[in-house]
Amino acid sequence: MDPNNFHIVAIDGGAAAGKSSTSRAISQRFHFMHVDTGSFYRAVTRKLLDADVDPKDSDAVTAGLDALALGTTLSDSTASITLNGWTPDDSIRSQIVNDNVSQFAAIPSLRAFLLDYQRSQVEVAKENGFRGLVMEGRDIGSVIFPDADLRLFLFADPEKRAQRRAKEGIADSIEKRDKLDSSRKTAPLQCPEGATFLDTSDLSLEEVVERVSELITEIAAAQ
Ligand code: CDP
Repeated sequence: MDPNNFHIVAIDGGAAAGKSSTSRAISQRFHFMHVDTGSFYRAVTRKLLDADVDPKDSDAVTAGLDALALGTTLSDSTASITLNGWTPDDSIRSQIVNDNVSQFAAIPSLRAFLLDYQRSQVEVAKENGFRGLVMEGRDIGSVIFPDADLRLFLFADPEKRAQRRAKEGIADSIEKRDKLDSSRKTAPLQCPEGATFLDTSDLSLEEVVERVSELITEIAAAQ
C-alpha cells in the first residue's frame, strides 16, 4: 500500500450487523482512524433526552442542537465525539437511547448538524498521522463519503443479529430500529449503488475482517 495515499473505507449496515468489530479490527490492521457515527447519533440523542426535547417539536430540536458544541477526542485509534466537553459513556447504549435514537436520527436538521462534522474527521485522521479512515454507520457510503475508496454494506440475517446482541447481554430493539432507519426520507439505510454487499450471517469475525482486508489491499494496489 502506498503510504502517501490516504484511504477512506465506508462501512454501512443494519443494527448488530458486525460493523463495529469489523471497523475496529480494520483500523488496527491498517493504522486507519476508526469513527463510529452511530455513537454520534446516540450521544446527541442522550443529550436531547436529558434536555427533555420532544423529537416531534422541531423548534425544541433546533434549540437543543444549538446548545451543543461539537468536539473530538482520540483514544488509541478511535475518535469520539464530544458534546460541550462531555465524552459519551456507556449511557449511550442504554435501553432508553436504543428506543429513541432512530426517531431522532430521522430528523433532517439533526442529520445536517452532524454532516460536516463527520466529513471533518478526515482532517483529524490526517493531522494525527493515520493512513486512512474507517467510518461506520448507515449513510457513510451513500451520503457522507460517496467517493470513498471502498464502500461496504454488511448484512446479517435478523436471527443472527439478535443472537449477537443477546450474547453481549444487551436488550435492543434492532428490528424496530432497522425498520425506522430504512424507511426514513433522509439518508435511509440501504446498500448504495456500487457498494460491496457482504453477507456475514455465516462468517466469523475473523473471516469478515480477512475478506475486507483483501478488498482494501486490492484497491490500494490498484491506485
Ligand atoms: O447498535 P448499532 O451499532 O447497530 O447501531 P449504531 O451504529 O450505534 O446506530 C444507532 C442508530 O443511530 C441507528 O439505529 C440509526 O438510527 C442511527 N444512525 C444513523 O442514522 N446514521 C448513521 N450514520 C449512524 C447511525
